[in-house]
Amino acid sequence: AELEVPARILPVAELHLHIEGTLQPELIFALAERNGIALPYAGLDELRERYEFTDLQSFLDLYYANMAVLQTEQDFADMTRAYLERAAAAGVRHAEIMMDPQAHFSRGIPLETCVNGVASVLATSQEEFGISTLLISAFLRDLSEESALEVLDGLLAMNAPIAAIGLDSAEVGNPPSKFERLYAKAREAGLRLTAHAGEEGPASYIIEALDILGVERIDHGIRCMDDPDLVERLVDARIPLTVCPLSNVRLRAVDTLADHPLPAMLAAGLNVSVNSDDPAYFGGYVDDNFAQLGLVFELSDFDKARLAANSIHSSFASEERKAELL
Ligand code: HPA
Ligand code: ZN
Repeated sequence: AELEVPARILPVAELHLHIEGTLQPELIFALAERNGIALPYAGLDELRERYEFTDLQSFLDLYYANMAVLQTEQDFADMTRAYLERAAAAGVRHAEIMMDPQAHFSRGIPLETCVNGVASVLATSQEEFGISTLLISAFLRDLSEESALEVLDGLLAMNAPIAAIGLDSAEVGNPPSKFERLYAKAREAGLRLTAHAGEEGPASYIIEALDILGVERIDHGIRCMDDPDLVERLVDARIPLTVCPLSNVRLRAVDTLADHPLPAMLAAGLNVSVNSDDPAYFGGYVDDNFAQLGLVFELSDFDKARLAANSIHSSFASEERKAELL
């Protein structure tokens, strides 16, 4: 008989993960109780019934509403610790964690509270969980550039331990070009640059993110497949695309997982990785994304190894750390 090779969890880097999207229903209720906040749901089942989304905005409405339970540094730390514990089990060995400081600042939570709460746990993530981490401050593209600049100034003034900036929230109608000054300022400050583009928005937003914002990486990017010239450019420049298959299904960016362009993207030679985006909302962490992909596509071991290697090469980790993980 052939030797059975035990299924091994591939070490991967998670590059597209919103820490606020890791708030599990149980933790939402626990934090609400701890902080004396009344939730508009009678219980877990009633909350879970809301996890049926029709598009990006229908998800964002619930995602922002649930953030009300995050009040103290301890709340942000508990959420971060829960993610790292689960990510370690998924095979994640390096994580680049986005947070949305504006979504907290705008409801009266000081920048120090949210940043220090998350960062205090990230500081020891490698020792505690075997996961090296870095923090990405994402900015909400449906708010003004002035608001983003004010918060970036605040983060720089407090010397927040952020490695990069990103751009998220409602995409259509909020093109990358709206944030040219924000990205110029972040680049000047020595920060790495990424942006969501081509999730619900058109391929032209990906081109704007590259040409006007100067990003090194594109979050999502699936809509590049509508533009063959753009695909060729992304392949030639090895631009990383942090793809989130289960997110795309749950937010109806694709009809079903079987319709997802990931295999076509791999075949085109694009530098794609598999990520979970908002795992508490979309039905799975990185390992769940790989498992469900494996059920509908014939991903070879070679494809899986390539996806894993792409994630590590595409990270903002040091060359030394990348070499350890490869
Ligand atoms: N897209 C845009 N904004 C977001 C997302 C997303 O999938 N998750 C959290 N903020
Ligand atoms: Zn995202």
